[in-house]
Amino acid sequence: MVDFKNIKGFVFDLDGVIADTSVYHSKAWHQLADELGVQWSEDLANNLKGVSRMDSLELILKTGGKENDYTQEEKEKYAAKKNTNYLELLKGMNASAILPGISDFLTSLEEHDYKLSLASASKNSPLVLEQLGLAQYFKEKVDPSTLKHGKPDPEIFARGAEVLGLKPEECIGIEDAKVGVESINSAGETSIGIGDPNILNEADINFTSTTDLTLNNIQKAMEVGQLND
Ligand code: G6P
Ligand code: MG
Repeated sequence: MVDFKNIKGFVFDLDGVIADTSVYHSKAWHQLADELGVQWSEDLANNLKGVSRMDSLELILKTGGKENDYTQEEKEKYAAKKNTNYLELLKGMNASAILPGISDFLTSLEEHDYKLSLASASKNSPLVLEQLGLAQYFKEKVDPSTLKHGKPDPEIFARGAEVLGLKPEECIGIEDAKVGVESINSAGETSIGIGDPNILNEADINFTSTTDLTLNNIQKAMEVGQLND
């Protein structure tokens, strides 16, 4: 584990880390899965976290053994339909959807002069940040439409460090998705997984809730990690 003192920046996932929006993504996919006759499950919901829109649709179709049943054009229509449903669920969303502890954490990161960037696979992330009133914290964002590969590929988190002018080892990445933690790790950054430690077992540091995200807790966890190295 790297020394906490070397950390200069934080690269954030959005859905499920900053905001409670992963439940909206799930709800919208669940609606579509029902329509397509694909059995919904907790496992499927977890596997969809962090996965791009089209790849999510492909995964749902594959889960139902329907990967060869639709043309590309039909698939695009379904993906667009999910997005329309998602945007409908986002209507009226405001700062109350910011996950607990996140506003204080962002303030303290700014006070301590850490650099911040966003590494979300969501094309809706600028809109979500605006609605939450957090856009001013994330001047640096990776645009997911410019990526060749989705999470778990390191590309998005590597770019998250690059846009800050930092080396990967100077950054901490924060994720709630298993594929996201894998992306952070293979980009060479320190990973914090938020959620079930059994699912996020590859994270360098695990917190079960965003309320645990404080600089003190991170420093302590990294010191313990170094002792165990
Ligand atoms: C995030 C979410 C996924 C979502 C993806 C694409 O990674 O965790 O659930 O599918 O973004 O989001 P978009 O808003 O572009 O459909
Ligand atoms: Mg997420």
